[in-house]
Amino acid sequence: MAIVLGLMSKKGGAGKSTIVKLLSSSMTYTGHKCLVIDLDPNKDILTWWAVSKTNNLAEDNLIVRTVSPERDLFDLVDEFDDKVKFIIIDTKGEGVDFGVDLASVADALIIPCLNAKADSDRTKETINWHKDLKARAEDPSRIPPLHVVMSRVNPKLLTHVKGTPKPDGVGVREFERHYEIINQLDPLDIMIPEKPIYQEIEERGTLGMIIKEHREKTDASSKMKLRHFEAAMALAILLGNCIFEERKMSKANGS
Ligand SMILES: Nc1ncnc2c1ncn2[C@@H]1O[C@H](COP(=O)(O)OP(=O)(O)O)[C@@H](O)[C@H]1O
Ligand SMILES: [Mg+2]
Repeated sequence: MAIVLGLMSKKGGAGKSTIVKLLSSSMTYTGHKCLVIDLDPNKDILTWWAVSKTNNLAEDNLIVRTVSPERDLFDLVDEFDDKVKFIIIDTKGEGVDFGVDLASVADALIIPCLNAKADSDRTKETINWHKDLKARAEDPSRIPPLHVVMSRVNPKLLTHVKGTPKPDGVGVREFERHYEIINQLDPLDIMIPEKPIYQEIEERGTLGMIIKEHREKTDASSKMKLRHFEAAMALAILLGNCIFEERKMSKANGS
């Protein structure tokens, strides 16, 4: 049986598709077959897959499908359940009406959250929706867990130690909200930093294939970039582990 992850958030631009690209890249790079179901009418993942193929930077074991009137989400999950190790479902950035469908097929739900008031408010609403869904379920253990991932985090805050002074170059409100999100939304222990490299992945192909391409180059600039891509891959692998181990920041910090 495939492990199914569903990305959701009421707000567009929070980083859902980026997380889908990272996770599907790391899963295929580490040798697993992975299906991405692109439920977003904008078809960001389908476009990324097509671009990857054009650039010869698509992993062979990555498959992307969209739904159609003849083949809905449930049909696709059924079809691929014993053919792939992972199924990742990307969704559009509005509403949680489809959330019940998503919750019924997924083993875990992931919601990226930006450091912005509107985002943390919407994320709280989704957390409440999830709590309510669990409370109403006949068997609450069948409702998949919902995990918040802090997305596009200022790199200066990635290694900041709680309780120590605010780093230079981070706004006061940004700093306070960063810890409000950690305290109120109990995110996963891995955060995604804001880095131009994530846009490059979007424009070029799967991360593992970009790494392989850069390993073959000998110029200094490619070597430098290779280190950044490898760091992004390490983070993507850690994020996957963090999801499966349900490692939350609160647990990691012993609070
Ligand atoms: N960690 C990041 N660092 C830099 N840019 C990012 C990051 N995450 C997302 N982006 C950019 O922000 C835009 C929106 O992200 P995306 O993942 O498509 O959001 P969503 O799918 O939730 O609408 C994209 O152009 C993407 O490249
Ligand atoms: Mg998207």
